[in-house]
Amino acid sequence: MIEPSYVVLDDLTYESFEYFTASLIAIAAEKGIASFVLSGGGTPLDLYRKLGRSTIAKDVPWDKIHFFWGDERLVPPDDPGSNYAAAREALLEPRAIPEQNIHRIKGELPPHEAAADYAARLSVWAAEYDPGAPHPWPRFDIVLLGLGEDGHTASLFPGSPLEVDAPVIAVTADYQGRPAGRVTLTPLAFNDAHLVVFLVAGANKADAVHGTFYVDDPVRYPAQRIRYVDEMNPMWFLDKGAARRLDWRGNRPPR
Ligand code: 6PG
Repeated sequence: MIEPSYVVLDDLTYESFEYFTASLIAIAAEKGIASFVLSGGGTPLDLYRKLGRSTIAKDVPWDKIHFFWGDERLVPPDDPGSNYAAAREALLEPRAIPEQNIHRIKGELPPHEAAADYAARLSVWAAEYDPGAPHPWPRFDIVLLGLGEDGHTASLFPGSPLEVDAPVIAVTADYQGRPAGRVTLTPLAFNDAHLVVFLVAGANKADAVHGTFYVDDPVRYPAQRIRYVDEMNPMWFLDKGAARRLDWRGNRPPR
């Protein structure tokens, strides 16, 4: 196994906010557009709120940023359990992101319809904005992912099949009482991305981080399915709690 690239950050929210702000500005300046896949859950919410409201991020060309989701719960878009609803309140509305730049998973649809709708949307977007893509889905510029206490990421759960033949699938999961029906991107889509960043906070994640890093078992630790093919991808941004079981010494944030 390749030991993942990770940094332990004193202020996970602020330092990751600086990193994503600079990355979005640089990508949009180079390409005229940037595709940003958001994670669900609670860890990234403070980051989204900073991106949505901080004057430091005012220089991001928000009208050029396209938003996608790594997974979504099968609930209506105004449901408190919706990952889209959380991001809309924290970031999309404050930055007045144009509707045509928001590519949500339609959680209000039946599972397989929601998955098919999202896959079709990815295919149309890739044809228009990423014509060199080798597959009918985008090579996302930035993918943000979290990690569950059980080691899941997006809605790829321990024990789920390694072999997938689609970029988007519908799944059922039981985790912390959260909505069970979900739609998720699969490693087929994640592993075409230019940059994947895991954002993990809390001592309650330390065991999942340690197992993902050092127990070679992608069935048990689905985050291992997200490629480690080069030293810079994926990147792990950890707070000290999440890094508690790692032998780190003052790793500094990426510049
Ligand atoms: C979701 C997320 C999920 C999340 C982890 C961690 O829909 O819930 O996509 O993969 O990232 O469960 O969640 P927390 O950040 O709340 O610990």
